Amino acid sequence: MRRYDGRVAVDDVSLSVAPGQVTCLLGPSGCGKSTTLRCIAGVEMQDAGEIWVDGQLVCDTVFRVPPERRHIGLMFQDFALFPHLSVQDNIRFGLSGDKGETARRVDELLERVGLMGFGPAFPHELSGGEQQRVALARALAPRPSIMLMDEPFSGLDNRLRDGIRDETLEILREQDTAVLLVTHEPEEAMRMADEIALMRKGRIVQRGAPYNIYNAPADREAMAFFSDINVIRGVSKGALTQTPFGQFLTPGYEDGQEMEIVIRPQHIKLDFDRAGQGPAPTIENGTAVSGVAERARFMGNESLVEFRMEHDGSLIRATVPGVFLPRAGTRMWLMIRRDKCFVFPVKG
Ligand SMILES: Nc1ncnc2c1ncn2[C@@H]1O[C@H](COP(=O)(O)OP(=O)(O)OP(=O)(O)O)[C@@H](O)[C@H]1O
Ligand SMILES: [Mg+2]
Repeated sequence: MRRYDGRVAVDDVSLSVAPGQVTCLLGPSGCGKSTTLRCIAGVEMQDAGEIWVDGQLVCDTVFRVPPERRHIGLMFQDFALFPHLSVQDNIRFGLSGDKGETARRVDELLERVGLMGFGPAFPHELSGGEQQRVALARALAPRPSIMLMDEPFSGLDNRLRDGIRDETLEILREQDTAVLLVTHEPEEAMRMADEIALMRKGRIVQRGAPYNIYNAPADREAMAFFSDINVIRGVSKGALTQTPFGQFLTPGYEDGQEMEIVIRPQHIKLDFDRAGQGPAPTIENGTAVSGVAERARFMGNESLVEFRMEHDGSLIRATVPGVFLPRAGTRMWLMIRRDKCFVFPVKG
């Protein structure tokens, strides 16, 4: 736990990271990700709680191993290379041992990050991406057993970023490093993580493999963090919640409990209007409800169509693979894939 002036920034975070594994700490801005990382690194001290590395206590509220003796590699967003040192001296900075040995290690790392021949150059002569790779080499040089990375790729343009991100992961996996990576981008977490720890307001709200977090979100916010969502409301009565799209089982909730049926746009099914009639109800897709297309946009791989629902004026977003651009005013029938719905109680 970490407080600033009595305000809790990180509360009750419990995390473990295994060798050769990438854990992503994912959450919105200000939720306490960097604070968590700084406590683990030891550049900041938590107000309660313990940090262990390789079975050894490195820090509680009394005892504290200094940051440089924790064998933790750091790579932060503002990775600041030493401007007055050459690339090779930057990488050599944290290394001990004789000159020949460290020079070999530096060469090996330069090759690994694809910067052979850049050793004598100075940071200002390098592009942003090259500097980032030097920072990575510097962090890897002492072979840390743990690597903490705080939005390390955020300064790079998209194309460069994908390449460096994948290379970085490969190197870290090869060295069997335990990686804790902070990001606020769900795509980055999905792409990199073996495990995601979803953080909100200083707490971890859910953790698991990307697949599980995406397909079994803990609550509506967790679901909305990864994609657009549609919310259909109803009230539980006799363990059932009636909606225009059909009824949903809501066992365990008291009569009168407001419920939300939440579904992603790609799981809305569309059908054409046939003289004012829609398709018949099915077990998989429930009851069809009519809506009028308001806006349709082509997004590259899919089309996004927004419907104004006729029964209550609410808006529902549906994505359809490929090009599908119904004209505004087109009436269609919407169904929801019941196996892709999540039912959450409205928090009081
Ligand atoms: N040194 C500090 N003094 C006071 N408050 C701080 C300090 N550092 C962080 N905070 C507060 O603690 C909370 C968590 O901050 P933190 O930097 O950990 O967020 P974050 O999840 O890393 O966000 P971002 O994605 O924007 O980097 C924020 O409300 C922030 O304002
Ligand atoms: Mg941060």
